[in-house]
Amino acid sequence: MEKAQAYIRIQELKEILTEANRRYYVENSPTLSDYEFDMLLKELEALEKEHPEYATPDSPTQNVGSDLFQAAGTEPAAKAKRGKAEKPKKEFEQQPHRYPMLSLGNTYDITEVQEFADRAVKTIGNNFSFSCELKFDGTAICLTYENGKLAKALTRGDGKVGDDVTENVKRISNIPQELKTPAGFIPTLTEPEPWPEQFEIRGEIYMPWAAFDRLNEERISEEEQPFANPRNAASGSLKLIDSKMVANRGLECTLYHILGEDLPFHTHDQALKAAQSWGLPVSDKRKVCKSIDEIETFIKYWDTERKTLPFATDGIVIKINELPYQEELGYTAKFPRWAVAYKFKAEQALTKLLSIDYQVGRTGAVTPVANLEPVQLSGTVVKRASLHNADQMEILDIHVGDYVYVEKGGEIIPKITGVELSRREADVVLPHFPENCPDCGTRLVRDEEEAKAFCPNQTGCPTQIKGRLVHFLSRKAMNVIAGDATIEQLYNKALVWNIADFYELTQEHLLTLDGWKEKSAERFLSSLEDSKKVSFDRVLYALGIRYVGETKAKVVATHFGNIDAIAKASLQDLMNVDEVGDVVAESIYEYFQNADNLETISRLKAAGLKFEMDSLPEKLSETLAGKTIVISGNFSISRDAMKALITAHGGKNSGSISGKTSYLLAGEKPGPEKIKKAETLGVQIIDEETLNRMIQ
Ligand code: IVH
Repeated sequence: MEKAQAYIRIQELKEILTEANRRYYVENSPTLSDYEFDMLLKELEALEKEHPEYATPDSPTQNVGSDLFQAAGTEPAAKAKRGKAEKPKKEFEQQPHRYPMLSLGNTYDITEVQEFADRAVKTIGNNFSFSCELKFDGTAICLTYENGKLAKALTRGDGKVGDDVTENVKRISNIPQELKTPAGFIPTLTEPEPWPEQFEIRGEIYMPWAAFDRLNEERISEEEQPFANPRNAASGSLKLIDSKMVANRGLECTLYHILGEDLPFHTHDQALKAAQSWGLPVSDKRKVCKSIDEIETFIKYWDTERKTLPFATDGIVIKINELPYQEELGYTAKFPRWAVAYKFKAEQALTKLLSIDYQVGRTGAVTPVANLEPVQLSGTVVKRASLHNADQMEILDIHVGDYVYVEKGGEIIPKITGVELSRREADVVLPHFPENCPDCGTRLVRDEEEAKAFCPNQTGCPTQIKGRLVHFLSRKAMNVIAGDATIEQLYNKALVWNIADFYELTQEHLLTLDGWKEKSAERFLSSLEDSKKVSFDRVLYALGIRYVGETKAKVVATHFGNIDAIAKASLQDLMNVDEVGDVVAESIYEYFQNADNLETISRLKAAGLKFEMDSLPEKLSETLAGKTIVISGNFSISRDAMKALITAHGGKNSGSISGKTSYLLAGEKPGPEKIKKAETLGVQIIDEETLNRMIQ
């Protein structure tokens, strides 16, 4: 390549990769697939090698991507306002890393793993082994333990300074705040504790598939943008402002690298085994290998088996096992020379984009959905894929008629990750995101801050009205058996426009529907009658308040107890509720300021729906009679409900542990002090499941 051409391409690649890094690490909304990114980075590396005069220290080849928050007013912070029901970024305090937090060199080619090993042999000779581990697809974390206690948790940041996310990390259930003494440890004068006085341990915070699917399902039902993959979901969740919300995200941690001064280990494997014995989460899916053949077998095994794992892995990390050799090999500016990542190629399918539908949801959000030529992907046929929003369509430069790459992000929604430009034909058509609602024709609003377009005609747009009706009757809401076609007919015949109209339907009305006989009408009416027994939290969810999904509805209903208390609550009262961020609080507050909504609620009240939480009967049993119970941590029900349950079964609640305490009921994240005290006093510690068995 000519010098001038090389210069232009280098600038172009730097720009593309810097922006891709920002979208990946800061916005958690990647624009390139890992493979595309890695290939472009390799192209840039090669060009910079050929033309060192154009290599600069700010190049993405010289720096690890940064997850640090960008100053207020920049795009990601502003976008957080309405497009997401939570404020995912804030200025966390930034702290320097004691040791730089680097990335890993990666390859998709086993011969490059051989080259990595050959390079190591040149420096350290032949007598070493490899530690092979899963490459966890999450977000990097650095934990500092001091005297056996978790002192600090930093994100990778830009590798030199990280965001202090200690409070959030404390909410992740498998990260111990205190280390445990391994059985058989005998303290000595020189070794009073089993662990070093101070050490760092690094690893990955990840979101298992089940938690990811649950979160995305909830986001989709709230018409929020789903996370593209579990890595982005983990990283977004770790940076939530409200640390209480982190507890519910189902995040987990795995640790894979100990650092400190004068650590007493000879190999990486020994270090990880010791960490595990102190109660730290270390994966057992690793192997010490002696040869490249063994490494290859390990890679091949996990390339297949990874599909059965409950979390995402994107490759295998191969590390020199002996720590003195690691030290000898050292680091480049960006990577250790003692480790390399072999990355698995994501399962992708290439297929033709036939058309794009613009779907209006029940809250008015307009989402582009791709119709694809059916294609097999990881065992299922994919026909439709989400395109997220207009920004995403533009970034992909997608044209109708293009061949596009489809990947699965979890079980729910396949997504389009790229366009195969080499197969673009002359007759492809550039799609235009509609200016007006495809349903009612109202001009769409597209807030500058907002990634999504909305139809503002909430009360008149048929799709929004029908969407609210469908949502109201759905299984997790009022659970009334009715197909979308029934609702369509009821709406078209002007029998139901408002959710409260359902309860004014009569047999005569229903017999006017096509194909309806007395039996079907009776069934429908009796299902509506049954829905009056649905609990208040589900009724609240059924109202379809924006951003109030099942979980939020449960939290708010339990907190306030009844609808009047919610309607009367100030914005501040709502924001004070655990797990309710200010966007959700604002949405609830606005809902109850609207006279039409209040009218709907009073009609539903008159129909007999439940608008307060069921209080537990005074007495359910005497199973816990004479028992004093202290509760600590979080449970599947609120703490108040748990206390009421104990009382209803004859037990007594107490706030502090003493010799008279019968049980410490420990939920998720119990207070370490309480546990310690219970252990010292010999008070039996039970979990929620045990309590449930006792009172059944
Ligand atoms: S060791 C000096 N081991 O992958 C870097 N990293 O793409 C030492 N990762 O930055 C890292 N699983 O965040 C290591 N078993 C594992 C890993 C792992 C995932 C992450 C880590 C790293 C990134 C590079």
